Amino acid sequence: MKKAEIFIDGKKSFDLPIIIDTMGNQSVDIRNLRQQTGMITYDPGFGNTGSCQSQITYLDGEKGILRYRGYAIEDLVEHCDFIEVAYLLIHGYLPNKHERERYAELLNRHSLLHADMQSFFRRYPDHSHPMSILAAMVVSLSSFYEINLEEDPELQIDLTVTRLMSKMRTIAAFTYRKMKGTDFINPSYKYSYCANFLNMMFSSPVVPYEPNPTQIRAMNKLLILHADHEQNCSTTAVRLIGSAGGNLYSAVSGGICALWGPRHGGANQAVIEMLQQIHTDGSDVKQAIERAKDKNDPYRLMGFGHRVYKTYDPRAKIAREVCEEVLQDMGQRDPLLDIAEELEQAALSDDYFKEKNLYPNVDFYTGIIFRAMGIPTNMYTVMFALGRLPGWIAHWLEWHHDPFERIGRPRQLYMGPTSRVVPPIEERE
Ligand code: CMC
Repeated sequence: MKKAEIFIDGKKSFDLPIIIDTMGNQSVDIRNLRQQTGMITYDPGFGNTGSCQSQITYLDGEKGILRYRGYAIEDLVEHCDFIEVAYLLIHGYLPNKHERERYAELLNRHSLLHADMQSFFRRYPDHSHPMSILAAMVVSLSSFYEINLEEDPELQIDLTVTRLMSKMRTIAAFTYRKMKGTDFINPSYKYSYCANFLNMMFSSPVVPYEPNPTQIRAMNKLLILHADHEQNCSTTAVRLIGSAGGNLYSAVSGGICALWGPRHGGANQAVIEMLQQIHTDGSDVKQAIERAKDKNDPYRLMGFGHRVYKTYDPRAKIAREVCEEVLQDMGQRDPLLDIAEELEQAALSDDYFKEKNLYPNVDFYTGIIFRAMGIPTNMYTVMFALGRLPGWIAHWLEWHHDPFERIGRPRQLYMGPTSRVVPPIEERE
């Protein structure tokens, strides 16, 4: 077995095992470090910490490679729909024709929402952010669809996974209908997963509606692009909640909350707001670039940069192509796309962005597609959540079956006061 050697104060040395993953990458196994040396490691943001062994997604940020269960993202987007990819992530293999049909039938069967849950939506204030409703409704599922692990744990987990995959789509569409103040449209057996979602969002009893095939294809592709991204912030939140024994609904609800932030999934909403601002102000993209470079200004170029990718995000490349397809189909040119393209060119040729390896990420073009589809800005992160759901489920399941699983519990470097005595209240300043 390969080993690393650690010297402390140049004197005492300790051997640490090296683990080599299936792609040949090496990691120092520090599980016994504290026991051996009395020391811990310090890694805020976990940039150098492998928190688990996983078989789900491979990501090479230097080369711009993304694979789910070994399949390239480009291949999956080209040849599969979202449900096949969800099945792949959750079950570990692509479904055959029979399994695909059976899964579609199961998803349809579990797509309705308990009637009592429907009344919750109406009680939210009109200005509510859809992500807050989504997180609350998903954790509420655990009250309506109990998980009885005493009976047949594997069957119960299967049922929960299927319910979550199907009902979260219904919840997302109902959230939009609530915001619009229109009646809910229930899912229909005659539509596929994405067409069903678009129908629940946009159909009306008074205006004929039929989901547009280009938009159905685009939605499938976008959801596939978002379906997993190994140990990102929200997936880590899901695993952490799972590690405490939290059920799947509560873990996914926690993942939704983590995703909401503008540095993570909330960036797709922030990108459109940034482009819109540039458009409304009539300012040129150079001003945005200068602000993003200014150390005294918290402004960042949204949709740019990534913890892992140090080259063009492969998802952004595909999203840009999908964007062109959707706009072309609609015979439209969005002024925000022109601004986005100009911004991308300006940033890619600027030394600050080149030196720091800041490239467009997945969120840079997706908002323009959602906008063309008629999805309102504050629903974009909900769309990201729908896509990421199978990834969250796959990680929760992987943790559940992991022989090395322990509760997630990092340590810290304590930098506070050493020891103090409580003074009487009269003596306190
Ligand atoms: N605009 C301007 N400067 C940036 C940007 C940006 N978008 N991103 C990073 N930097 C700078 C940052 O100021 C820092 O500079 P310095 O070394 O001089 O202090 C350097 O680049 C490294 O940045 P960091 O914040 O230490 O990097 P990180 O890996 O911790 O953060 C990130 C990654 C994605 C949070 C960050 O790039 C960012 O805030 N981007 C904008 C938000 C965004 O688009 N998020 C979506 C990410 S992709 C989808 C997802 O994961 O949900």
